[in-house]
Amino acid sequence: MKKHYPEWLKKAVFYQIYPASFYDSNGDGIGDLNGITQKLAYVKSLNCNAIWLSPCFASPFKDGGYDVSDFYQVAPRYGNNEDLKNLFEQAHKLGIKVILDLVAGHSSIECNWFKEASKVEKNHYTNYYIWGNSADAPQYRYINGMTDKEESFMINYYYCQAALNYGFCPPDPKAPWQLPCDHVDVIALREEIKNVMKFYLDMGCDGFRVDMASSLIRGANAAQGIKDLWQYYRNFLNEYNPEAVLVSEWSHPAKAIEAGFHVDFMVFFNLPGYSSLLRGEPYRVTWSEFTFEHSFFDQDGLGDAELFCQDLITQLTSVDGKGFVSVPTGNHDTGRIAQNRDTQDMKILYSMLLLLPGVPFIYYGDEIGQDYVYNLPTKEGGYKRTGSRTPMQWDSTLNAGFSNADPKDLYLPIMPNSDRPTVANEEENPDSLLNFTRKLLALRNANEALDSEGKFKLLYVEKNQYPLVFERFTANQRFVVAVNPANRECECQIACPNWDLFKQILGDKLVKALDIYGAIKIIMPPKSYAIYSYNGIID
Ligand code: GLC
Ligand code: CA
Repeated sequence: MKKHYPEWLKKAVFYQIYPASFYDSNGDGIGDLNGITQKLAYVKSLNCNAIWLSPCFASPFKDGGYDVSDFYQVAPRYGNNEDLKNLFEQAHKLGIKVILDLVAGHSSIECNWFKEASKVEKNHYTNYYIWGNSADAPQYRYINGMTDKEESFMINYYYCQAALNYGFCPPDPKAPWQLPCDHVDVIALREEIKNVMKFYLDMGCDGFRVDMASSLIRGANAAQGIKDLWQYYRNFLNEYNPEAVLVSEWSHPAKAIEAGFHVDFMVFFNLPGYSSLLRGEPYRVTWSEFTFEHSFFDQDGLGDAELFCQDLITQLTSVDGKGFVSVPTGNHDTGRIAQNRDTQDMKILYSMLLLLPGVPFIYYGDEIGQDYVYNLPTKEGGYKRTGSRTPMQWDSTLNAGFSNADPKDLYLPIMPNSDRPTVANEEENPDSLLNFTRKLLALRNANEALDSEGKFKLLYVEKNQYPLVFERFTANQRFVVAVNPANRECECQIACPNWDLFKQILGDKLVKALDIYGAIKIIMPPKSYAIYSYNGIID
């Protein structure tokens, strides 16, 4: 049977790079594409085989590049289109795929499309945007008085991010400026965005992470409209480049995969589970409609994994065989996963996160436990997110090896703590988080039961209880992962028919697994983890 997704997703492990902050190759204080190309071997060394690159397009950077002013041009500060092409080529030589960020929902008001559209005379670009009247539809956000047109334009996020017009489903008869999704001008915009995709696919890119993917169509029946739109693009990709992947920022995998995406993130909106697992107060940093005083992975042991597990199971069940869920370590919009966590906490956490079904995404620096930097002034629309976007910490030379610019010229300062983790330090230490991450990913890559498609079953999860134990398996292999992030001992019992084959392959030696005839009792010291194999390939 033909798969619903490209085969390479089965083994994909992504690394997310925020281009400004990864590696500065020309000493101007800001990361760039050639810098990323120079560090591809490092990405490979993590056992990652794919990269998601946050926007690298021309932009006034009022929202970190999520305000694109030319969809067909690399931002000069990052290099040029040739550099991007070269990045794709060099990555492919190492077996690394690269997906770009498609900011489909809006453009910068400095985009030429918008400048043309702002003219009073109607032209090709006028209806690329939504020229409305706030009195007719107060639920949307508009900017008044910026152009000579009578109408105001709708925005999608910040004031400078004018919403692109994919139409209304259906238009409100009381608001004649709302165009239907099949209006010829709306189709022109839809095709333009398709051309943007083609442009980068032709250059060598392997797909797209789509920004705010669920927000492109408005109206009482928006859900149907959005589904139709993405199915249209998906059909195009199926024809044009069936190896290309579509990853969504939707945070509701069941809906996103049904609409045509291959992978969707479970993050901090639409579903509560992610926040309750990882981002208790006060380390949440970014806005979320779901707030939890404690998270399951906090040392105080006052969290709860049940909510997350419920969300996960529901989502996994509905996408099974059709696409994937991703529970990322974080991204440029969240806090840093290492906030208030030590290396042991992180190992416990990654034993779960990096061995879940679906496609893992590691945000740059999370593999070394790079921390959030507090009290930074906002940079380029980052606000509180700025502290999660500081330069990658490579070594202990000038600027942590990120750049040889004068420190005052850096795009963002380096994490000031002198004991900050670096790649170089962690390379040397066999017990570092970096080497642990590599080990986990090597285990994942070597075993079918642990890849994106491997099955998942909860063996122990109880409301407000620790530990959490789950199983990954195929017909021939089984792994059991047990995590106790709490600062106290805990135990549980799991069914296990073949004790003789049950063997700890990673984790703390003090975790005990006792045969109690037909079942196993797992006794876990404070802050511990253990990974067991029944008959997997270990190395
Ligand atoms: C997405 C991006 C975020 C950006 C917003 C508007 O949520 O991840 O960084 O600010 O969309 O484009
Ligand atoms: Ca640079």
